[in-house]
Amino acid sequence: MGSINSLIRAGIKSLKPYSSARDEFEGESAVFLDANENPFFGPLNRYPDPRQRQLKKVISELKSIPVENIFTGNGSDEAIDLLIRAFCEPGVDNIVSPDPSYGMYEVSSAINTVDFRKVRLNNDFSLNTKAIRKVADKNTKIIFLCSPNNPTGNSFGRSEVLSILDWFEGLLVIDEAYLDFSEKPGYSLDVLAKQNLVVLQTLSKAWGKAGIRLGMAFACKEIIEVLNKIKSPYNINALTIEEAVRTLHDHQEKERRVQEIIRIRHQVREKLSEMPSIKTIYPSDANFLLVKVDNALEMYNYLANRNIIVRNRSGATGCENCLRITIGSKIEMEMLTDAIGNYEKEHKL
Ligand SMILES: Cc1ncc(COP(=O)(O)O)c(C=O)c1O
Repeated sequence: MGSINSLIRAGIKSLKPYSSARDEFEGESAVFLDANENPFFGPLNRYPDPRQRQLKKVISELKSIPVENIFTGNGSDEAIDLLIRAFCEPGVDNIVSPDPSYGMYEVSSAINTVDFRKVRLNNDFSLNTKAIRKVADKNTKIIFLCSPNNPTGNSFGRSEVLSILDWFEGLLVIDEAYLDFSEKPGYSLDVLAKQNLVVLQTLSKAWGKAGIRLGMAFACKEIIEVLNKIKSPYNINALTIEEAVRTLHDHQEKERRVQEIIRIRHQVREKLSEMPSIKTIYPSDANFLLVKVDNALEMYNYLANRNIIVRNRSGATGCENCLRITIGSKIEMEMLTDAIGNYEKEHKL
């Protein structure tokens, strides 16, 4: 493949980025009169580190990935948007992704006026790599793969995923938002060898910190540099940096909670498999179960009327009458299965 540089949009390549006061000065100082901050109200009176050095050091140690290969964003959603903005020329380039998958790839493409080409997953929700290759052309700059996939819950085969890198000249972005709930290995270390591979991870799922908005992208230095060039200067706020550093230090707590969620996932699967209204429970490597019922809208409304909100994914390709159920606490899951039991009684199932 050609160099990463040749994939970057011309206007971005020539862009002179905004340089913030804290970009220009490195180090400790007693007197900061460079950023028009307020001298009172400390410590949040100061702008945060635009390069998130402390946070990236923690991520680097945890993931065994050098700091220069790490981008941190306001959720992985920011990284998705910035990748499109850096590499896809509006109205010219296109993006390819399996269908169904995480909705933000399509939304971000549309916001950036980039053609989004969907390739239907096989009936068992595995990747149709042949169809992906057929749909991609010389203007395909990004292929987004979400593994484990949202909303189907399955992981894609490693050899199929890597086979795309054999022929694809653009960026292969693998979104691993749900990887911690899977026993299969991820691809983050592969970015050190594969120049056009980008891996996305997040603190929103296994780490339990959706509220602080912290996403990570791992990639070669050239890709990380361009993301840093076009991000807003202080994209991660000081409170998020502080909480993320604290959270990432508690790796054991995260692992304990992940194991608990996986245990509950197994228990709920067992319970649901005995319930007559549940027709299919799809395999899941994630913190949710996709289930097929007879009438998804009716069951969704029934549960919503009892203050239990699941996601009706009936509109997603190949997911007719499917509900996506997030694995909650044991008590929440009991409330769910009790409510489905009542639904069945009322419907004489
Ligand atoms: C596959 C996938 N990627 C990314 C995200 C969003 O991640 P973040 O909260 O880091 O923006 C989600 C959220 O549901 C998701 O399902």
